[in-house]
Amino acid sequence: MIIGLTGGIGSGKSEAARIFTALGVPVVDSDAIAHELTAAGQPALTRLAAAFGAEVIAADGSLNRVWLRKKVFSDRAAKQTLEGILHPLIRAEIVARLGADADAPYRIIMVPLLFETGAYADLITRSLVIDCDESLQISRAMARSRLTEPEVRAIMDTQCFREQRLALADDVIVNDDSLENLETQVRAQHKKYSGLHS
Ligand SMILES: Nc1ncnc2c1ncn2[C@@H]1O[C@H](COP(=O)(O)OP(=O)(O)OP(=O)(O)O)[C@@H](O)[C@H]1O
Ligand SMILES: [Mg+2]
Repeated sequence: MIIGLTGGIGSGKSEAARIFTALGVPVVDSDAIAHELTAAGQPALTRLAAAFGAEVIAADGSLNRVWLRKKVFSDRAAKQTLEGILHPLIRAEIVARLGADADAPYRIIMVPLLFETGAYADLITRSLVIDCDESLQISRAMARSRLTEPEVRAIMDTQCFREQRLALADDVIVNDDSLENLETQVRAQHKKYSGLHS
């Protein structure tokens, strides 16, 4: 059984993943993989440079994330090119890492854009959405990453609406209380998933 863990920016995916990990559940983090695949010296960088030009690589050899973010923000074709290069690599790495934990009762893939990309529907058994209201998402995301409210809202605009996400969810954790409360809910899901696999 593979659970797709998702939710909007600042909803609490990483905190939930941390708790699942502490419970011994294998969690594959697509964001972490995306970062690793675009670290200095990775083959993906060569392909990105071929597509976008040398500007996409910073002086120290790492990905120029700021430049790239600006580029794809205003250019739909560029965004598709970027995704065409990165998404298959990320997916292949997720599949490889899942294979390493094939004996676990269940496994989790954490994909912020699980429903938006639709690219993981064939891999997952159930989806688990971490949900909270938008004002909480904004204040948490701002506190954590020093983004301004308009910047957080701009990211939220690239993600699906809360209602759509909730409609597509098999399971939902409402993370609008304390971290202790989040842990209680994660433990309850863990118990459920541990029983479901057999
Ligand atoms: N229930 C909670 N109580 C207090 N703080 C919380 C709670 N849940 C999450 N946070 C905090 O809010 C911030 C955002 O949470 P987290 O990083 O888990 O969200 P995320 O969904 O992974 O966001 P992103 O999409 O940006 O990766 C973090 O600083 C986290 O510690
Ligand atoms: Mg996160």
